[in-house]
Amino acid sequence: VVLVVMGVSGCGKSTVAGLLAGQLGWDIEEGDDLHPPANVAKMASGHPLTDEDRWPWLARVAGWIRARTDAGRPGVITCSALRRSYRDVLRGEHVVFVYLAGTHDQIAARLAARHDHFMPAGLLDSQFATLEPPGAGERALAVDISAGSQDIAAQIVARLGLSAAGLDAKVSEL
Ligand SMILES: Nc1ncnc2c1ncn2[C@@H]1O[C@H](COP(=O)(O)OP(=O)(O)O)[C@@H](O)[C@H]1O
Ligand SMILES: [Mg+2]
Repeated sequence: VVLVVMGVSGCGKSTVAGLLAGQLGWDIEEGDDLHPPANVAKMASGHPLTDEDRWPWLARVAGWIRARTDAGRPGVITCSALRRSYRDVLRGEHVVFVYLAGTHDQIAARLAARHDHFMPAGLLDSQFATLEPPGAGERALAVDISAGSQDIAAQIVARLGLSAAGLDAKVSEL
């Protein structure tokens, strides 16, 4: 299985993905690191990305996922994956989306406290405007971000039945 930890900027993707990969011993990738430099520069200057900016990036995220599933290796990757059409690029038999769900106010407060990151807090409005939460049939687990990050990671492991081997008997119930 490959988990795609998704949601708006500041919802906790990097934090939770890091905990999951550490606990499970899985491969991890930071989807932000797969952006072309031009995309990072654009976001850093406060401009939201367009779909044209996003397709090449999503193709690289999909490439990372495919390399894991082809090799039969479990993994976890962070990717905002805000729209359903973006998730369509990433979807696959072994892919499960983990949607970190929080309110605008909750996430704005966290972004205000986070300084060492290229994404300015002012882009949060456009992130929420773009967001299409995963719907039925998308093989997605929604997790409330009110809990501490350790709790959230533990919830994901328990609810999906994850192990070091990536065995995921419960995933079929999604
Ligand atoms: N469950 C949590 N509770 C409180 N703060 C959190 C939680 N998860 C993440 N944070 C903090 O919120 C900020 C954004 O988290 P981060 O993992 O960088 O989000 P993302 O990768 O989605 O942009 C960071 O400063 C992080 O330490
Ligand atoms: Mg991040």
